[in-house]
Amino acid sequence: MTTPILSIRGMCAGYDNVSVVTDLDLELSAGGFVAIVGSNGAGKTTTMRSIMGLAQVTQGVIEVDGKSILSMRTSERVQMGIALCPEGRAVFPTLTVEENLQTGAMAGRRWQQRNSDAARVYGLLPRLGERQTQQAGTLSGGEQQQLALGRALMSAPRLLLVDEASLGLAPVIVDLVFDLLRDINEAGTAIIAVEQNIGIADVAKEIAVIEHGMMASLDSVHGLGEGLRRSAREAYFGTGGSNE
Ligand SMILES: Nc1ncnc2c1ncn2[C@@H]1O[C@H](COP(=O)(O)OP(=O)(O)OP(=O)(O)O)[C@@H](O)[C@H]1O
Ligand SMILES: [Mg+2]
Repeated sequence: MTTPILSIRGMCAGYDNVSVVTDLDLELSAGGFVAIVGSNGAGKTTTMRSIMGLAQVTQGVIEVDGKSILSMRTSERVQMGIALCPEGRAVFPTLTVEENLQTGAMAGRRWQQRNSDAARVYGLLPRLGERQTQQAGTLSGGEQQQLALGRALMSAPRLLLVDEASLGLAPVIVDLVFDLLRDINEAGTAIIAVEQNIGIADVAKEIAVIEHGMMASLDSVHGLGEGLRRSAREAYFGTGGSNE
């Protein structure tokens, strides 16, 4: 069996010694694409932040390529090929589109390659190319989301973490972002996408449901059976709260 690109086992994590994720297991193979769904406050963002070294992991292991990354700084994790497109866009509003992308090149220690990396990102997200010199704070919401994604892609990640990329986007832009994630995945980058939009099931290979900081289920999209649909629904609406 090949070594998974990411393996999380028995992870407990949180903030200031308050545990919000308990005994979480998640494994992703190279080239894998898992979508994480779950209700507000379930611990999805905390799980992503734990992988980046931005939340406190108090128990368990996180391995990349079979080696623990727990003692690594966030910058070292970026350099080994992990990138996060954070929840809430978080672009630098007074910097231009081009300068925002350059911060991604700096984080990934790819300063020499920044121009070819930017050309690659503009190829994937042409709207950014049209707005290279515009201040990020004046971009539309959808454009800012594309910029946040583009910035994460500047470090040419092997493992891309995307936290609610579709939030607040028009359906046509959601489709564009999801199609882009599929293309990036097909080109070889493993992806974990936290999503509220169940349309992610059309592009992800597996779906994981997190409830109350614990993994409730993990299933292949191809086997997306009624059991998983029910638990995904319960994660959103609560038990018996389906409005179907
Ligand atoms: N920096 C922090 N300090 C203290 N508690 C935090 C912090 N960030 C998150 N929490 C708490 O941890 C719990 C899980 O939060 P998290 O952001 O991981 O949820 P989530 O599943 O991403 O939710 P959402 O769908 O609303 O984005 C919540 O109860 C939240 O209040
Ligand atoms: Mg979140």
